[in-house]
Amino acid sequence: MYNPNPTNRDNGTAPTVAVIGCGPGGMFFLHAVATKRREMEQTQQIESSNCVLPIVTCFESSSSPGGVWKSDRNGGTTNMYEALWTNGPHFAMEFFDHTYDEHFGCALPMYLPRKLVLEYLLARVTKNDNKFFDQVKFNTTVQSVKYDDEMSKFVIQTLDKTGSVSIGHFDKCIWAGGKNSNPYIPKAMADVLSSFEGRIMHSSQTDENFDMDTNGKSVLIVGDNYSAEDLTLQAIKLGVEEITICSRSGNGTACETEAWPGDKVDVLEGFLPTGVTNDGRGVILSMSEYDFDKDKYTETSDTRTLEVVDTIIFCTGYSSNYGMLDASLRPDNESACFSKDDLPKDWKMTSNFLSEEFGDVPVGRIQNHPGLQRTLYRGALISNPSMMFLKEHIDVPLLSLDVQTWLLLAHITENNIPSVNEMNRWNKEQFINEMDNVFQRFNLDMKYKEAFDDMDDDHWTEDKFDERTIELIQEYYRLQFRTLA
Ligand SMILES: Cc1cc2nc3c(=O)[nH]c(=O)nc-3n(C[C@H](O)[C@H](O)[C@H](O)COP(=O)(O)OP(=O)(O)OC[C@H]3O[C@@H](n4cnc5c(N)ncnc54)[C@H](O)[C@@H]3O)c2cc1C
Ligand SMILES: NC(=O)c1ccc[n+]([C@@H]2O[C@H](COP(=O)([O-])OP(=O)(O)OC[C@H]3O[C@@H](n4cnc5c(N)ncnc54)[C@H](OP(=O)(O)O)[C@@H]3O)[C@@H](O)[C@H]2O)c1
Repeated sequence: MYNPNPTNRDNGTAPTVAVIGCGPGGMFFLHAVATKRREMEQTQQIESSNCVLPIVTCFESSSSPGGVWKSDRNGGTTNMYEALWTNGPHFAMEFFDHTYDEHFGCALPMYLPRKLVLEYLLARVTKNDNKFFDQVKFNTTVQSVKYDDEMSKFVIQTLDKTGSVSIGHFDKCIWAGGKNSNPYIPKAMADVLSSFEGRIMHSSQTDENFDMDTNGKSVLIVGDNYSAEDLTLQAIKLGVEEITICSRSGNGTACETEAWPGDKVDVLEGFLPTGVTNDGRGVILSMSEYDFDKDKYTETSDTRTLEVVDTIIFCTGYSSNYGMLDASLRPDNESACFSKDDLPKDWKMTSNFLSEEFGDVPVGRIQNHPGLQRTLYRGALISNPSMMFLKEHIDVPLLSLDVQTWLLLAHITENNIPSVNEMNRWNKEQFINEMDNVFQRFNLDMKYKEAFDDMDDDHWTEDKFDERTIELIQEYYRLQFRTLA
């Protein structure tokens, strides 16, 4: 096993840590440990300090690092497609310890191609150690993780590409398996489309053969966010005949897009596929009404029929893969969501630009939110804080992962986990703070989302240049970064 801290006074006391996944999250954690070790060596603290760095083993299913940023699709994991350009500005992904000047040495466009970001991320972690990735067991899938109470150790079963199964014991386990690791296709919708005779694919299957699915074809896209927008533009470039995007809530970027190149795109807000035509070649779409509080859609009699569809692309997003974790170690269980009972009885939102229009919106169903779960305290599972999670959860995924790695390292080296009561109290305070923020409450509280949904399309919140909108967006980001800090 690779030992990241060979000069530790007493390796017998160094905790052993298993990291699941070598995407950005996993490799940033290894990088944080290496950085801390170097700092301690430089200040000669390594012998005198009480800080004992962990011995880390990282397991990665595929044959190389980078997670979704790769495009090779080896090992059956989710990858971006080769020609993807980022949707976030480059300055939100620059790291202080490997600047763009140092790496690229030239001016950069606002958005970067996937390939350059991957190169940059790999260069950052290997620049002080060209054997950095020796500590990763590639082609090795973590099949199961259980916690043995008697031993106080995680029992981790892995499978390598030779078919060999191994069992290892670890003091800590960090899940870095990726929020976007499993393509998500709503089962009910897949069932409705089972008699469709054309091609059905998920956005993650887009590859160099995408022209065969789009050139001269009639395409239906389900879902209206980034993948939908991106693949629509790709398909137009590749000579698609026509594209229909159907959107459940109308909240995604494709619905916000005011103009598309060519005259080939039709966006149907509120429509979802509800059937297939008798010849199996067309799709019937129905207008659906959404009950925000019950999270339920009801079909109406307003339907559209697309007589000929060649390709259906599900751009319905992804889900995290917690399948390898024992049920007791998963963060997304039934008690993960906050509810109005977590707010003080007399709770009222602080007055803001929308208060007069909205009045006091009663608190509704609170949606599961990756950045705020009752089961987790700053990345550590409250019921067993030796189990930790590295999950992107704000609008700057890479930065958020990097910050969290230092938090998890501190959990391990400083043993800084407070009592369960204290963790719950901290989480509740965070929840109250977030409910007081207009756009964060929109993300969390379904009744508040509904109040937004009821507003006219030309409301000032839709105008990104309105001073009130700008202030609310800034408040939203201030909250995100304060939380991260
Ligand atoms: C299409 C797409 C476009 C995106 N574009 C952007 C963008 O422009 N900007 C941005 O900042 N973010 C973007 N993201 C978000 C992206 O998820 C994060 O930037 C980042 O990759 C998350 O890193 P991660 O390490 O948490 O997860 P991942 O990158 O998913 O890495 C997880 C790793 O864990 C491994 N793994 C999973 N299960 C196991 C197991 N059982 N055993 C061993 N290994 C396992 C996987 O093989 C993978 O290598 C995009 C995501 C997608 C899907
Ligand atoms: N160029 C890029 O950088 C790029 C490109 C693609 C993706 N990404 C990233 O990849 C991640 C995933 O993006 P994504 O666009 O694939 O997924 P996403 O953001 O999760 O959007 C999923 C879409 O599917 C819809 N949907 C989900 N479940 C549904 C259901 N049961 N029925 C009907 N519609 C349903 C959602 O509608 P509702 O709004 O109603 O929930 C939403 O429109 C994001 O982090 C994104 O930033 C980046």
